[in-house]
Amino acid sequence: MPKPPQPPCTKDKETQLREQQEAEIKRRAYRENKQNARKKVKHARFEEPTDVSPVDLPRKRFYRQRAHSNPFSDHRLDYPNSPDTMDWSKMYPNFYDSELGKMTSKVEIADIGCGYGGLLTQLGPSFPESLVLGMEIRVQVTQYVEDRIIALRNKHAQDDYKYDNISVIRGNAMKFLPNFFYKSQLSKMFFCFPDPHFKQRKHKARIITNTLLSEYAYVLKEGGVIYTITDVEDLHNWMVQHLDEHPLFERLSKEWEDQDKCVEIMYNSTEEGQKVTRNKGSKWVACYRRLPNPEECV
Ligand SMILES: C[S@@+](CC[C@H](N)C(=O)[O-])C[C@H]1O[C@@H](n2cnc3c(N)ncnc32)[C@H](O)[C@@H]1O
Repeated sequence: MPKPPQPPCTKDKETQLREQQEAEIKRRAYRENKQNARKKVKHARFEEPTDVSPVDLPRKRFYRQRAHSNPFSDHRLDYPNSPDTMDWSKMYPNFYDSELGKMTSKVEIADIGCGYGGLLTQLGPSFPESLVLGMEIRVQVTQYVEDRIIALRNKHAQDDYKYDNISVIRGNAMKFLPNFFYKSQLSKMFFCFPDPHFKQRKHKARIITNTLLSEYAYVLKEGGVIYTITDVEDLHNWMVQHLDEHPLFERLSKEWEDQDKCVEIMYNSTEEGQKVTRNKGSKWVACYRRLPNPEECV
């Protein structure tokens, strides 16, 4: 939607600069405070209650970051050498059996480029027995989602559903997915309103490409589903074209989409999707089933 014309700025440069600096100091102090709370929760042993008081839901304006992050640059990301060395226990402590010394479940649902976590917070209660993970490349956005989850867990600590099956990790899904997930581990992968990278020379940065689809097929189990939604028709056509061309994916019908509860959740729950609804934009959905590997169909 075109932006309405802005009134001319009446403040002099010095005042503007001072206000910006003051706002940044405030943002930093707020984030530091949250970071300390986050550290306490992360470093607490499972059986120890933490003294972190019920944390309020974080405020998005303190976590703003540039809209785009270059998926090809070195973000100094931490990632495990292999899924065997990934420690999920601090992220999903209620799914860790300390006597057996192992997790009782594996991550099954991944929201790739989860943004501010709207989808996670809806998928969690809909699949309370499954572990749901958001992967997000931007630092501050990931921190926002971490803080949101801490706050939800504290707020619902006494309820039947405690938001203990959702978590978020900072990561570049275009580089390291097989470091986090075993072959055929996932049953659902969501790509909601991915960055469109409009310019032709930037298309290679799109999150759906032929090569990446082979990686997604590796971590998805047979019968697993890739969900896509976007408000950019050109990107929708691109994703459909690449998925149609890939031998390990088959498009699911409109009738299937209409009866699937995740499609409805994905349509309404993400922050980007809600923005599109507010602006009365269109949303395009395409879902694909992971087919068996050719050598496995006899
Ligand atoms: C337009 S936003 C959509 C966020 C969310 N899915 C929603 O619908 O509200 C796209 C998100 O993908 C993240 N992202 C882009 N490339 C990524 C990558 N390679 N790995 C993980 N996250 C990525 C961006 O930082 C951004 O938060």
